[in-house]
Amino acid sequence: MLKIGFGAFIILVVTVLGIAGFRDQKGEKTHIEWFNDMAHQPRVNAQVRSNFFADGRAERAHIPGTVPIGYILPGAYYQTEGNNLVSGIGGFTNQPDYFNTGRIGEMYGDGIPENVAARGADLINRGQQRYEINCAHCHGLAGRGTGPVKAFGLMTIADITSEPIRKQPDGQIFNTITHGKNTMGAHGPIITVEDRWAIVSYVRALQKVAEGKLNFVEKK
Ligand code: HEC
Repeated sequence: MLKIGFGAFIILVVTVLGIAGFRDQKGEKTHIEWFNDMAHQPRVNAQVRSNFFADGRAERAHIPGTVPIGYILPGAYYQTEGNNLVSGIGGFTNQPDYFNTGRIGEMYGDGIPENVAARGADLINRGQQRYEINCAHCHGLAGRGTGPVKAFGLMTIADITSEPIRKQPDGQIFNTITHGKNTMGAHGPIITVEDRWAIVSYVRALQKVAEGKLNFVEKK
């Protein structure tokens, strides 16, 4: 019985191999796919129809206001209404000038560029909102480096109200936001140039608070 079973198995293997061939064997005929090959996975191709969505298109249109990262939109600066973007356009670093890099040649420059400084208190308010979204989880709401991330083990978060950082020119802080530093990641690809300057202005405000030159009112 065993012999017959074994013999039948051998014949089966030989027959299957004879018809289907080895998996990576080269041949003139299209090989049999026992499972879908990766080239034939269930997915949609570009520019094809699909019944899945009501509009019959496989590709989805961009959500209104989508800004491709690094793409320069016409009109260098966006408008804000209070703290909120109105038109939803904004620019990322695309020029080697001070506004875009915080540098003048090889040196860090100081001062908030005039075109953004003209926004006055609105700029600092915007900076606070952006700081609390992008920085506070590490640096803490007051900038002391005690945000919740510290509790999870990132021990080296800088106190950005400390004297060495108070003494840094604005362009250097802008540069730190853009490119990051050591264990701090780059934020240039996710925060627009103008918002980075807004954050710099808010960091300065936090430093004034730490020096006792300004009062910090905790938001309720
Ligand atoms: C994931 C946590 C994290 C986030 C988010 C983060 N930082 Fe940092 N930051 C750090 C760490 C860690 C350091 C210390 C890096 C080092 O070892 O020098 C640092 C350092 C700094 C410094 C000091 C750089 C120097 O010259 O010593 C500044 C200024 C700063 N961060 C500003 C910001 C601002 C503004 C934001 C928001 C746009 C931000 N950081 C977001 C973790 C973070």
